[in-house]
Amino acid sequence: MSMINPGRPVAIIDGKSIAAKMRTRLAARVAEMTTKLGLRPCLAVFLVGDDPASTTYVRNKTKAAEAAGIRTIDVSSSALIVEADLVAHIRAANLDPTIHGILVQLPLPKHIDSKTIIEAIDPAKDVDGLHPLNVGRLAAGRRTFVPCTPQGCMVLLQNTGQTLHGARALVIGRSTLVGRPIAQLLLNQNCTVTIAHSKTQNLPTEIQRADIVIAAIGRPQFVRGNWLKPGATVIDVGINRVAGADGKDRIVGDVAFDEARAVAGAITPVPGGVGPMTIACLLENTFTAALQQTNIRSFY
Ligand code: GUN
Repeated sequence: MSMINPGRPVAIIDGKSIAAKMRTRLAARVAEMTTKLGLRPCLAVFLVGDDPASTTYVRNKTKAAEAAGIRTIDVSSSALIVEADLVAHIRAANLDPTIHGILVQLPLPKHIDSKTIIEAIDPAKDVDGLHPLNVGRLAAGRRTFVPCTPQGCMVLLQNTGQTLHGARALVIGRSTLVGRPIAQLLLNQNCTVTIAHSKTQNLPTEIQRADIVIAAIGRPQFVRGNWLKPGATVIDVGINRVAGADGKDRIVGDVAFDEARAVAGAITPVPGGVGPMTIACLLENTFTAALQQTNIRSFY
């Protein structure tokens, strides 16, 4: 129970259960699409090298896609692949009408320019929303493929029932994968948005003013509870592996959860908050891509 909000328990935002509901709903739509249109959505997943975290993420994405009835194609390659060959594989996937979505797991090895790779993806198949055309559409407030983690954060925020219009939102982190797109999405919902980053001065003061805090910094338990405005909604995008007291690794977010839950009005846990939403949104984007590529307007 909060000392600052006596009598008002903090809401723990259950991303795991919200994502499970999205995936169940999506599986029914995919089944209907497959039966009625003979169309099975298909996602090509490009994994370069054998980074353990990326390998786990890709495995989880693939398993979830198959469970929802979405076909996946594994396009794994050695960390030594040259950029031109990777581009050629992506161009082949662009031209293959049975592939609707393309995902290139990031980060890529240092000798490959990720901008070149992302720009090689057909924007119509860019289910990660990272191609500059889709980034520009989002910035212009148009409908487009939106990066999956930011989209997942927005679904969680909307689930809290909190009013977004006019709320002060602070995004901590300015990455292309999370910070920048979520700032655009919040702006599109009429939040007053501030983006903080490593050069921001007096971050605690910025945080203190915010009704909504999105932490996407990549530093374990960096945001302290006493920096928060009482009753704020906190979305923790961090996934950091740290050594636990028992010597085993554990996963923590960018927010000091035990401190923050005593002050926040609503907060996502790590794990079980934003993480599961990323995959659910990826599957939705793949379904949408398949639908858009059929040119059948009457299905939904
Ligand atoms: N690496 C970490 N998160 C992501 C993501 O959402 N998409 C891609 N492509 N790579 C990632």
